[in-house]
Amino acid sequence: MKDPRDPETRFFLHHGDMTDASCISSIVSKISPDEVYNLAAQSHVKISFDQPVYTCEIDAIGTAKILNAVKCAQEYSGKTIRFYQASSSEMFGKVQEVPQKETTPFWPRSPYGCAKLFSHWLTINYRESYGIHASCGILYNHESPRRGETFVTRKITRAVGRIKMGIQKKLYLGNMDALRDWGFAGDFVEAMWLMLQQDEPSDYVIATGRMVSVRDFCEMAFSAAGLDYRDFVEIDPRYFRPAEVDQLLGDPSKAKKKFGWDPKVSVEQLAKMMVEHDLDLAYREKTLQDIV
Ligand code: GDD
Repeated sequence: MKDPRDPETRFFLHHGDMTDASCISSIVSKISPDEVYNLAAQSHVKISFDQPVYTCEIDAIGTAKILNAVKCAQEYSGKTIRFYQASSSEMFGKVQEVPQKETTPFWPRSPYGCAKLFSHWLTINYRESYGIHASCGILYNHESPRRGETFVTRKITRAVGRIKMGIQKKLYLGNMDALRDWGFAGDFVEAMWLMLQQDEPSDYVIATGRMVSVRDFCEMAFSAAGLDYRDFVEIDPRYFRPAEVDQLLGDPSKAKKKFGWDPKVSVEQLAKMMVEHDLDLAYREKTLQDIV
């Protein structure tokens, strides 16, 4: 008998590809999951302007493949499979209301936003057409020390660490006036799970309800290392986008009311957490450079 506490028996990785409907279908029917979280995406907004077709293949058509696999597996086995769709605040784009809530009209401003909006509506359509327990989390920017280094918060905190250790001189950014509602990924993932524990599926805005600019985030991150961002940050037009989302501010009151969700980490704590991690990383980089 296998020990259920052994991670090897609880956690398996299955190879798959979002472009391959047959493999998605066979994985879903083979493991017969209780819950499916569709986080698969080409998730970089700027890159979606350079790779619009690929972004749509993964972020839009990929969702159709997973949803259909869930529907077929559920019909075949009779077992309910709960489905989570990673919708995005990017769907609000040119915002029609401040703050945005679940009923705010969408106006995406990038191929990424358009693809996410397709998946958002398709998920709702599967819920309405086939009674699938499918929920969409409209998540605002969620960050952590694990964030990819080309997203602005991590790009900034990586630079802070490297500048502090003397292995980088400048940080080049695009639009520093963009405003975002930044939260901690750990808090937001908890909200994803809570959504699927509800009796009824629905769509929820997950945000902190506070908006700061890229400039503000720079200020917080550099000062956490005792530096003044104005001495190091320069603007490079390469990082501007063909169409920008100027501001995003979410109203998470539905999630709070329905399942008591509240973010625990403030943007100041988040910046500090990321800077501490990246100071340590840069220290190790520097030590390695000094050795070799
Ligand atoms: N990446 C990046 N790099 N962004 C920059 C830079 C830069 O050098 N300079 C300024 N910015 C601005 C962008 O123009 C944007 O307004 C803002 O910083 C945030 O950019 P990102 O960190 O790349 O995130 P995003 O808001 O475009 O998208 C993220 O959040 C969405 C949720 O709203 C991604 O995680 C998406 O996948 C997610 O859906």
